[in-house]
Amino acid sequence: MEEHTPPELELLLRYIAQERGIDCRKYKINFLERRLASRMRAHHVSDYQSYLYILKKHPEELDALLDNLTINLTYFFRDQSVFEALRKEVLAPLIRERDHPGRRQLRLWSAGCATGEEPYSLAILLHQLLGAGLPHWDITLLATDLDEKALAKARAGVYDAFSFREVSAQELSPYFTIQNGRYHLVPEVKSLVTFQRHDLLGDSYPANMDVILCRNVLIYFTREQHDYIFTMFHRALKDGGVLVTGKTEIMLGPLAACFKAVNLREHIYRKVGGAVPSRPPASS
Ligand SMILES: C[S@@+](CC[C@H](N)C(=O)[O-])C[C@H]1O[C@@H](n2cnc3c(N)ncnc32)[C@H](O)[C@@H]1O
Repeated sequence: MEEHTPPELELLLRYIAQERGIDCRKYKINFLERRLASRMRAHHVSDYQSYLYILKKHPEELDALLDNLTINLTYFFRDQSVFEALRKEVLAPLIRERDHPGRRQLRLWSAGCATGEEPYSLAILLHQLLGAGLPHWDITLLATDLDEKALAKARAGVYDAFSFREVSAQELSPYFTIQNGRYHLVPEVKSLVTFQRHDLLGDSYPANMDVILCRNVLIYFTREQHDYIFTMFHRALKDGGVLVTGKTEIMLGPLAACFKAVNLREHIYRKVGGAVPSRPPASS
C-alpha cells in the first residue's frame, strides 16, 4: 500500500489477511476507510482497535465486513447488455470462424469471479451458442478469485434467489434443478468451468486467452495496479483476443492504445496487434 496507513488500521488489515487470506492492504485506503466506517458505526465504535476486538470476539462480523466491502457481490448475467454484446459481437463470430475440424477451441477467463455467477453465465452462453455441437469443442473456461470461501461456493454451483436479480431463475430454468428451494446448476454447465485461486496482483497469469472478463474487481485498486493488471491481461490474450471490463474500470494512458474498442458502451476491447507495453509497472 503506497498511501500512509495508520498503525491501528494496518493491524486490522493484517488480521483480515491472516484469517481469510485476503490482503486488503493493497486496496485504496479511502475506499477501505469508508467501508470500515459503516461497520464500525453499526457496532457503535469509532476506533480501529475496538473494532478489531469485535472482529476477534465475533468471527461472523468478518463475514459482514467482507460483504460490506462488496467483495463478492455478483449475480447471473450482471449487466445483461454486456452479455448480449458478448454473444453477438464476440462469441458468435468467433465460433463461426473456428467451426472447422482442428480449430474448435475456445479459451475464456473470468478473473475475479467471486461466487461463480459470471463464469457460469458465460458457460450458459456457450451452451446456447454451441448447442449439440458442444462435445466437439475443446473449451477452457477458467474462473479465478483471491477468496477461497467464494471459490468454494462457486464450485458447489448452488444458488439462492439473490443470484437472479437481473435475469430470473425461470428464464434460466433449463440450466438449474430446484432442491429445497435452492437452485442447483446442471452438470453439463457446471463442468465447463474450472475454478482456481489466483491473485491478480501477485500470481503469474495464464496465456493464449481468447476472452478475458474482469469486471467490478479493479475498483479496489490504485491507478498503478490498474496499469499492471491491464498490461498483464494484454500479455495473457491471443492477438485479437477480447477484454471485457466493468463499467467503472477504464484504461488510461499508453495502455489504451494497445486495445481498440469493440463496443465502447459495454466496455469490450480487442487486443491490438502484438504491441506489448515495454514493462509492466510493479504490482504493489
Ligand atoms: C464484486 S466481485 C466481482 C464479481 C464478478 N466479476 C462480477 O462482476 O459480478 C469482486 C471480486 O474480486 C475479487 N478480488 C479482489 N481482489 C482480487 C485480487 N487481487 N485478485 C483476484 N481477485 C480479487 C474479490 O475476491 C471478489 O470476489
